[in-house]
Amino acid sequence: METSRIRLYPSGYEVECKTGETVLSALEQAGYALPNNCRAGACGECKIKVRSGTFDQGMVLDMALSAEDRAEGYGLMCMAKPTAGVLEIEWGTDDAQPKLFPPREAVSFVVVDLLKRTSRILELRLCPLGNPLRYWPGQYVILGDSENEIPPRAYSIANAPGMDGEIMLQVSRVDDGTTSQWVHDHLQVGDRVKLSGPYGTFIGDPSAETPVLCLAAGSGLAPIMALAEAALARGFRQPVTLLFSAPGESDVYERGRLALWQARYRNFRFVTTLTRENSGDYQGRITEILPGIFPDLTEYSIYIAGSTAFVEDCIDTVKGLGARESLLHTEGFHRQQSPESPPAGRLMT
Ligand SMILES: Cc1cc2nc3c(=O)[nH]c(=O)nc-3n(C[C@H](O)[C@H](O)[C@H](O)COP(=O)(O)OP(=O)(O)OC[C@H]3O[C@@H](n4cnc5c(N)ncnc54)[C@H](O)[C@@H]3O)c2cc1C
Ligand code: FES
Repeated sequence: METSRIRLYPSGYEVECKTGETVLSALEQAGYALPNNCRAGACGECKIKVRSGTFDQGMVLDMALSAEDRAEGYGLMCMAKPTAGVLEIEWGTDDAQPKLFPPREAVSFVVVDLLKRTSRILELRLCPLGNPLRYWPGQYVILGDSENEIPPRAYSIANAPGMDGEIMLQVSRVDDGTTSQWVHDHLQVGDRVKLSGPYGTFIGDPSAETPVLCLAAGSGLAPIMALAEAALARGFRQPVTLLFSAPGESDVYERGRLALWQARYRNFRFVTTLTRENSGDYQGRITEILPGIFPDLTEYSIYIAGSTAFVEDCIDTVKGLGARESLLHTEGFHRQQSPESPPAGRLMT
């Protein structure tokens, strides 16, 4: 079958695109995520500047791609098919990392559902009142209530971006914690809340075509769920193992989504290790059992999220098993609450 090539600017990285395949699909196959919603030329979410080369744009709506957009060289990648040779598009940074969305302040959401996931973790489902917040899976938002002196705190988004802009947060109760207690004890379905964000760089690395190991404990599962959901949905083919550590069976949550992924994606495996019960797939702390399951992690991309102590312990263990710094991604739920400033040159314009 004939192929064209898609060259990413400014990195110069190239991706093959089969005849008849869309640019979005070819990028996804190669691990390069592109924001998208309708995948049908109707929403404009996948609009990107094409620097050179030719493509067939197909039937798209004017409201998604205006005449001015076309004149300036933009195209909708969910419908665009390269017609010959090399198509050069603007995507990402010098080293082919995705650019970040500029954070927004105090975006209004309504609490549409509250789900008690475990005795200590409450899940909030939030729908935007206006434009959805654009984010990469793995990023976090800041939630608080300044009018009622509830301090702003960071919470990782637990789902990949979807059409309706819904955001899921999974908040652990901290016993004498102001914001987490407010979330658990005062927030009601129908309340309005304000989120700022997105923040953080705990996002998937598209250039890594390696097996993946995810380690999570408690609500550290949240950003891992968002990352895994997005990677699996875009056709990531390498083996992905998610190892979740919990005291007992009743602290293991998200079994529904995880069972669905196990059934749908052959390369995905979810395993638990329980620290205080004798059931689960494994027993004991991740640091104790990991060497027996993954004796050599040199070829793995590793994602770790949870309390700072959990993350630090896991980092020591995986490094001891050969994990490479460049393939190690971590999100410690530390107490310092000022959001991470996006690195220079990584913001979308
Ligand atoms: C990037 C990032 C992402 C995060 N994502 C999540 C998430 O998805 N879900 C979630 O539940 N939490 C998450 N957190 C933690 C969250 O931001 C708050 O720190 C936590 O909810 C406690 O806030 P609080 O106002 O209830 O407690 P505070 O009033 O700030 O503190 C009360 C007491 O708890 C202790 N404490 C506070 N925070 C922590 C902590 N993180 N670990 C241990 N002890 C603490 C304090 O020392 C104090 O004694 C994240 C943190 C970061 C930095
Ligand atoms: S994803 Fe909606 S226009 Fe491409």
